[in-house]
Amino acid sequence: MNIKLVKDFSKVYDAYVMPKFEGEVKVYEGLTGEEKLVLEKLIEKKEFTGKKGTSISCDLMHKGRLVNITYLGLGNKEELRPYEVIEAFYKALKGIDGEILVGTHGVEVSQVVEAAHYSKYDFNKYKTDKKDPKEVSFDIYVEEDTDAICEGTALAESVMLTRDLVNEPANVIFPESLAHEVTLLGEKCGFEVEIFGEEKIEELKMEAFLSVARAAEKRPRFIIMRHMGDPSSTEIHGLVGKGLTYDTGGLSLKPSAGMANMKTDMGGAATVIGAMAAISRMKVKKNIVTVIAACENSIGGNAYRPGDVIGSMGGKTIEVDNTDAEGRLTLIDAVHYIINHENVKEVIDVATLTGAVLVALGTSTTGVLANNDEMYKSLEEASHVAGERVWRLPNFPEYKELYKSKIADLKNTGGRFAGSITAGMFIEEFVGETPWMHLDIAGTSDASAPYGYYTNGGTGQIVRTLYNYYNKK
Ligand code: BES
Ligand code: MN
Ligand code: ZN
Repeated sequence: MNIKLVKDFSKVYDAYVMPKFEGEVKVYEGLTGEEKLVLEKLIEKKEFTGKKGTSISCDLMHKGRLVNITYLGLGNKEELRPYEVIEAFYKALKGIDGEILVGTHGVEVSQVVEAAHYSKYDFNKYKTDKKDPKEVSFDIYVEEDTDAICEGTALAESVMLTRDLVNEPANVIFPESLAHEVTLLGEKCGFEVEIFGEEKIEELKMEAFLSVARAAEKRPRFIIMRHMGDPSSTEIHGLVGKGLTYDTGGLSLKPSAGMANMKTDMGGAATVIGAMAAISRMKVKKNIVTVIAACENSIGGNAYRPGDVIGSMGGKTIEVDNTDAEGRLTLIDAVHYIINHENVKEVIDVATLTGAVLVALGTSTTGVLANNDEMYKSLEEASHVAGERVWRLPNFPEYKELYKSKIADLKNTGGRFAGSITAGMFIEEFVGETPWMHLDIAGTSDASAPYGYYTNGGTGQIVRTLYNYYNKK
């Protein structure tokens, strides 16, 4: 696939996709005679007014070539949300190939560039009988010079990287191979990477993380990424991703149906890696450090058990009530590390943390907990720009009762009620006064069926929200 910006379209293409706002449907002046008549009659016959979600399409002979023309209704310009632009173009571009001219009149060019990328996304590398993909090139028509192709491509490729990582099975992506991928990505995008092996993790006394990692044959890694985009500032923003490359549930073993898709339990890690790729490629003027405590929650004679009492890097003791509530155990050590060893002034963790968030918010909306209103407000704004949904859940102190332990400081579950809240608040116990936000993406990072501009599997949701969050002036 080839995407470039063009400032004229005198060349004849196989297909043309042109956005039209409601009440502004005009046939392009370059078309004359019969060609123009066909389009005008079609508009009349289909009563096409440019309403959102509608489109018309036809084939006609143009300068000796059979060309396809699509008019894409975008509705009212003022009411158009960013994701709707991506979605509309995605749907129009998905089914066509060859040489394509795409109009951008009145819309954000980088969003059209993104849509072009997503329209050909297909995780089919493990299919042995796949056909060679048809040649496709997108010429994006712009009236003025813009560097939108850079931003659109950086965002789309980062989102697709996140999708790929989520879609890769656990026999391909495990802590060591994930660390390797991040190392290569750092070289490519320009961020610094540091990897801690088990010895260093032990030295740092990440006992909670190590307890979860203990039984797996695939050994843990602690992955650190650093983007220092603002050397004039000492402020560092912290980002943490849950990196369970597989979650069997441990000795509190998951039933088959619940385990089947647990290769995706590193969705938080994939998201923060994608965000780092976008941030460093676009040279965002902020200092951002990201960490991932990557491991596999497995079973074996050496596994941590329900009933065990374990320590944590932060010092608090934890009674393990359920080995399947492992994400929060890895996250507390990652959060403690980033606050105390990377000196971040705020921290966001992103995690496929609870099935309960699916019960509460479904598959479209990311659940959020925050100990800081301003931070949440800023995330909300960033999410609006990205067209990704977030919703805040409460962290009232009453809920703390639910995860008190009789014999240790805390236990790692909070019972059947308010499962997403108690899971998030458990992490909050380890952030102290540091402004903190927790994003539970268990419902949103992976799709069991295509929707919007998402395909089956990893969605890459929240990558663009995080990018916008840090990219604000
Ligand atoms: N990784 C799961 C959460 C999850 C569930 C992600 C479904 C994606 C889809 C997490 O580690 C987990 O098992 N959580 C338990 C917590 C419980 C034992 C307190 C859950 O949600 O059931
Ligand atoms: Mn689990
Ligand atoms: Zn998990």
